[in-house]
Amino acid sequence: MKIIALNWKLNPETEKEALSLLGFSDRKGVLVFPPSIFLAEIARKAKRAEVGAQNIFWEEGGAFTGEISPSMVKDAGVQWVLIGHSERRRYFDETDEMINKKILAALHADLRVILCVGEPLEVRKKGVSSAKKFVAYQLENDLRGIKNFKLKIKNLVVAYEPIWAIGTGKADKPAESAEMAKFIKETLSSKPYPPNPKVLYGGSVNAKNIAAFLRPGEIDGVLIGGASLKREELKRIFGILKI
Ligand code: 13P
Repeated sequence: MKIIALNWKLNPETEKEALSLLGFSDRKGVLVFPPSIFLAEIARKAKRAEVGAQNIFWEEGGAFTGEISPSMVKDAGVQWVLIGHSERRRYFDETDEMINKKILAALHADLRVILCVGEPLEVRKKGVSSAKKFVAYQLENDLRGIKNFKLKIKNLVVAYEPIWAIGTGKADKPAESAEMAKFIKETLSSKPYPPNPKVLYGGSVNAKNIAAFLRPGEIDGVLIGGASLKREELKRIFGILKI
């Protein structure tokens, strides 16, 4: 079954609106990623959808003002966490080293991880092979040490989100992101990574283009931002997916 992950980012404004969005999106196969302040309530109310955090810290406790630990998230009834989203890399200076620590901490707490990778426009302009090199570098550094991990690395999903496609209305060509998904799977299969990791595509997915990304093939699901907040768009998306 394809994964439909909805990243609400810094939206909506109130818990009431968040619950109403959940009511609309609470379907089997859907993962919702609300802001952390709504997580516990959303996890309590979700019946069919699974719930994920948009971020965590790598330490389990201590003097880290403002942070949330993997176990706290887990205790709130959350199963998933997004790590390495380009907005966190860009606005909060998250490095591959920090992302790596977060991934190991999340897996240790038995959370399922969606690792986000993807290249900026200047790299993609040089061609798909430059983009592949960029993504391979991210994978190598973000997943460093994972081979020594005897935990459930099958809990690892990768989301390919080319930065230039996020929030721009300019989605990648489905054939090119399918090629990247294949490349990610090959890169991970040549090392002791989880066999057949699932790879999602994210970046300006909407009701018009979702079917092309979800055709049988290398892409195992989508990570949707903007459209996940628009009821009419979601209604059409769920209609297309028959969920
Ligand atoms: P958009 O769907 O708004 O382009 O956002 C994609 C994204 O960043 C999902 O994590």
